[in-house]
Amino acid sequence: MDKPSDKKKFYLTTPIYYANSRPHVGSAYTTIVCDVIARYKRMCGYEVAYLTGTDEHGVNIERAAEKAGVSPAELVERNQKIFVELWKLLGIQYTHFIRTTSPQHARAVQNLVRRTRRHSPDAIYKGKYEGRYCIYDNLYVSDTPEPADCPTCGRPAELVSEENYFFRLSAYQKPLLELYAKNPQFVHPDFRFNEVKSFVESGLRDLSISRKSIKWGIPWPDDEEHVFYVWYDALTSYISGIGFVDGEHDGPDFRFWPADIHAMGKEIIRFHAVYWPAFLMAAHIALPKQIVAHGWLLFEQEKMSKSKGNVAYPEPIVKVLGNDALRYYLLREVVFGQDGNFSRDALLTRYNADLANGLGNLASRILSMISQYLDGQIPDSNSVNVSGEPYHSLLRASQEISAFVHTRFQNFDFSRALESIWSLIGQVDSFLSVVKPWDLAVPPVSREGLQCVLYTAAEVLGQIVVLAHPVLPDATQVIWEQLGQTGPLQHEQIEELSRPRLRSRRRIARPQPIFPRLEKAEASERIAKMEDEIRNPGTTPPATAGTPSPGATTAGGAAAAAAPAPGAKISIEDFAKVEMRVGIVKSAEKVAGADRLLKVMVDIGDEVRQVLAGIAQYYTPEDLIGRKVVVVANLAPRKMRGQESNGMIVAASVGPEGRPVLCTFTEDVPAGAKLK
Ligand code: MSP
Repeated sequence: MDKPSDKKKFYLTTPIYYANSRPHVGSAYTTIVCDVIARYKRMCGYEVAYLTGTDEHGVNIERAAEKAGVSPAELVERNQKIFVELWKLLGIQYTHFIRTTSPQHARAVQNLVRRTRRHSPDAIYKGKYEGRYCIYDNLYVSDTPEPADCPTCGRPAELVSEENYFFRLSAYQKPLLELYAKNPQFVHPDFRFNEVKSFVESGLRDLSISRKSIKWGIPWPDDEEHVFYVWYDALTSYISGIGFVDGEHDGPDFRFWPADIHAMGKEIIRFHAVYWPAFLMAAHIALPKQIVAHGWLLFEQEKMSKSKGNVAYPEPIVKVLGNDALRYYLLREVVFGQDGNFSRDALLTRYNADLANGLGNLASRILSMISQYLDGQIPDSNSVNVSGEPYHSLLRASQEISAFVHTRFQNFDFSRALESIWSLIGQVDSFLSVVKPWDLAVPPVSREGLQCVLYTAAEVLGQIVVLAHPVLPDATQVIWEQLGQTGPLQHEQIEELSRPRLRSRRRIARPQPIFPRLEKAEASERIAKMEDEIRNPGTTPPATAGTPSPGATTAGGAAAAAAPAPGAKISIEDFAKVEMRVGIVKSAEKVAGADRLLKVMVDIGDEVRQVLAGIAQYYTPEDLIGRKVVVVANLAPRKMRGQESNGMIVAASVGPEGRPVLCTFTEDVPAGAKLK
């Protein structure tokens, strides 16, 4: 972050993302929307802090790591890079990135509890928890032991019973209702605010904020048997990420607190609008000003989510259509606050209609005419008289639309803001068709007429690119420079509605196509192919967390090994690269702290290998000793839980939960025999 300035400050956050899988278009939506808000606010003269990050603790990370055959630390290290790379590709201008595994964050979380105890001694107590918990959504589904399904993902929730530290949320019902009454804008949109209020009005239960059964988390201060419940840990990132230490010795960027906006998807609003303010009240820390929830991106009417497999990935779209196209589509097509459907076909239609034929075409028309009829020079605003019609009408429409767009942005109504910017594009097109500059260019040439027309069109185009810049940062900057303007568009003040936008008498650059028209079927195929490569790594090697292909798995270290696309063939040479041998299990034991892993010593003929296998929930060490198994012998060694695994034991994966069933032999085979 730059040095503190005199500007008004603005602090905005996305949720921190679970680092158990790569982001898809649905999850990237929050970050893209926030980037638009951040850019818009900068263009309103604010010094903006924009925080994002990765949520790296908790049971779902622990399990994903086990499934992938790596330690949780390795998994989050690998996945967090995917987020950073994607945000770079998408042009996200965040200023702070917080990882919950960083020491700075752990210290802040522990200090938040210490501070809470100092200011509100009754707020945290020890008690017994028994209930159902969804490990995928990190959500308490019910506070009774009876079986229950998760309301978010529909999967059966797990039974949890243990001694925990509790946060006395029940004591914050009244203060929360007072907060809501005093701040009618506290939650946006209104209908979500009503849901939050009803939830709080119906009574609040105390909340368990520590775990004994999980190891992968931040240790509870002075009681290392417990780690923090992942949401208490994660929410604290909003303050730890900008330098909170303990409320007294904080870093310089903590001046941005309280947050102006915490933005997120609708499913996690309760954590932000109820639990988080209560945690902060108890710790005597200022409260965020506004909680803003968007809807979900759906794919065929279901929430886009990795676990359902119905996801589109941003990278292929950006590679084929460019960064601006994805941003434009999401902000234009989805009404902010409501669910919106994602469709590749609609994306390509918008690209061709609004970007190629709309903005791109208008820019190239105006630039070509200035180049052709005015020797490539923007007319001087002082030497043209545009007070008469039809110039005046268009310039006035431009000002009115600018003011409207401004209020729409402030109201998170991006879709209508873009709709009206595009209506202005339509008006400039019609204006050109009516005044026909090409007629003015034939002898007797009306130079004054041409200057008035093209000055007006260029000026409104300048206004359009300023207004659209937060959503289309790349293309608008290119058009700005093609109009002969210098400096980043981001430095333009979006609120200055009456000042002419263009510095006149500037030479324009040679017009170049900005959004080349695309053949839809061909573009769609290219995107689909790249998406397949992400889903089935192995056809090409993208930087992905990796997902085992269904139906076949290995019980050893690298369950996340690349798999070819379904139906794809490999050569006999490829197969011959895998060295599989018969092994005889000599000993097996559980790995401390990993309830799924067994450390197995296997005799593979010329040596006894140590292999870590994720089968502890299905096989006991006694089941294995003396058993003949199939070992992949030439895998690169990898570390899990600090122990080395040298190979894999092959198993079939059965049923939806992927129960491993070890391969074996019914006939007598010696250890070390090769499989061909
Ligand atoms: N780690 C928690 C947040 C902790 S914040 C203190 C989390 N992470 S997440 O990775 O599941 O979600 C990150 C963001 O992606 C959230 O805003 C979530 O709503 C958003 N989305 C994930 N899938 C989505 C869609 N299909 N559509 C729109 N947004 C969705 O929750």
